[in-house]
Amino acid sequence: MVTGSEVHFIDGTRTPFGRAGEKGMYWGTRADDLAVKAMKALIDRNPQIPADRYDDVAIAATTQQGDQGLTLGRTTAILAGLPLSVPGLAIERMCAGALTASALMGSTIGFGQNDVVIAGGVEHMGHHPMGQGVDPNPRFLSERLVDGEALNMGNTAERLHDRYPQYTKERADRFALASQQKAAKAYEDGNFTRDLVPVAIESEAGWGLADRDEHLRPDTTMEGLAGLKTPFRPHGRVTAGNASPLTDGATASILVSDDALKEFGLKSRMKMVSFAFAGVEPEVMGLGPIPSTEKALKRAGLKIDDIGLFELNEAFAVQVLSFLDHFGIADDDASVNRFGGAIALGHPLAASGVRLMMQLANQFEQFPEVRYGVTALCVGLGQGGTIIWENPSWNGKKHARAGK
Ligand SMILES: CC(C)(COP(=O)(O)OP(=O)(O)OC[C@H]1O[C@@H](n2cnc3c(N)ncnc32)[C@H](O)[C@@H]1OP(=O)(O)O)[C@@H](O)C(=O)NCCC(=O)NCCS
Repeated sequence: MVTGSEVHFIDGTRTPFGRAGEKGMYWGTRADDLAVKAMKALIDRNPQIPADRYDDVAIAATTQQGDQGLTLGRTTAILAGLPLSVPGLAIERMCAGALTASALMGSTIGFGQNDVVIAGGVEHMGHHPMGQGVDPNPRFLSERLVDGEALNMGNTAERLHDRYPQYTKERADRFALASQQKAAKAYEDGNFTRDLVPVAIESEAGWGLADRDEHLRPDTTMEGLAGLKTPFRPHGRVTAGNASPLTDGATASILVSDDALKEFGLKSRMKMVSFAFAGVEPEVMGLGPIPSTEKALKRAGLKIDDIGLFELNEAFAVQVLSFLDHFGIADDDASVNRFGGAIALGHPLAASGVRLMMQLANQFEQFPEVRYGVTALCVGLGQGGTIIWENPSWNGKKHARAGK
C-alpha cells in the first residue's frame, strides 16, 4: 500500500559559477568534479542523515559525454563518498535539467517510494560548448517542424523582440542592469554565503580558490550596455550584457519526506506544492515558463497573486520581460529575482534550477509574510518548467508579495 508524503527541500549548495572557456577559472577542472564538490559539501553539512539512507541521486547535464557522461548521478555519488549501495541516475532537459531532477525525485517522495534524495545539475559550457556534437534529425529542419534558427538560443531571444516590439532593447538593458545591481547587493548582504562551496582550482599559475561567481559586473551602466555588439544579428537587441553568459558550475540539493524530516530532526525550508512542464514554439522558446507556470498554478489551485516571490531564470532579459508582462508584473517588481539572476550570476544550463531553489529558500526565511514562491526556467527546443513552493516559515498572516 503506497502512502505518499509532502516533499521538503532542506538544503542546497553550489559551486561559484565560472566564465566558460580557456580564460575561465574552471578550465582545468573536470565537470563531474564540480558536481562532486557541491554534493560532498551538502552531505558533509547534513551529518544527521546517515550516508546509507540516501535513496537516490539525480544529476542533470545537457551534454552527457566526456567528463559530463557516464551516468553522472551514480559516478558523482560514489566520488562524493556515498556508500556503493546508493544508486544514481542522469537527467536531461537542457536548462531545466536540475529543475526536472527535483520534480522527478520529489515525485518519488510524494509517491512514498523514497525518503531522502539528492537532485542537482552541472554544466561545463567551456568543455562542452552548446550544440557541440549534436546531430539534429534533418526532418526537424526539412519538414519545418523546427526553424533552423530555433537551435540557436540567441536567435530565439531576438525573435521575441521581433514579436513583441514593446520589449525594447532599452527595457532589456534596464532589466539586465538591475540584475547586476541586485546581485552585487546580495553579495554584500551575505545572501550567497550559505549556498556557495569554494572550489580548489588548478591553472598554469598554480593552485587557487574559486569562492565567488566570476561573471559579476557590478559596475555595469546603461551607457556601457547600450554600446555592446549584437552577436546574433546585425542591429539586433540581444547582447552579452542582457543575455546570460556562457558558464561552468554545479548545484546539489536534498529533498526529504515527512518521515525523514522527523526521524533526522531536519528543518523544512520549502515544501513542493506543484510542478509543470509545457511546450511552446521552439522559435520563441523563452515564452515556455508562461504556460508551465499557468499549469502549475492550476494544479495547485492558486492564482498568480498568491505568489509572493519569483525566482525566474534570466536566460535572456527579453524572455523574463515576456513572463512578467503576461502576468501583469512590473519589470522592477521587488518580488522578482531579489538577489539578481543568471544575467549577473551566470547560467550553467542544467545546474541552474537548483540555484533558483536555494535563493527562494533563503528569501522565504527573510519574508515570513510570503506563503508561496515560484521557480521557473525556459528551455531550448521550446519548453518551460515551473515548480511552486510553500514557505514553512509563513507567519499565517494575510498573504503578501515580497517588497509590497
Ligand atoms: C551573448 C554571448 C554570445 C556573448 O559571448 P561573448 O562575446 O563571449 O561574451 P563576453 O563576456 O566576451 O562579452 C562580450 C563583450 O561584452 C562586454 N560586456 C559583457 N557584459 C557587459 C556588461 N554588463 N557591461 C559592459 N560590457 C559588458 C565584455 O566586456 C566584452 O567586451 P570586449 O569584447 O570588449 O572584451 C554569450 O554570452 C551567449 O551566447 N549567451 C547566451 C547563452 C545561452 O544561450 N544560454 C542558454 C540560454 S537558453
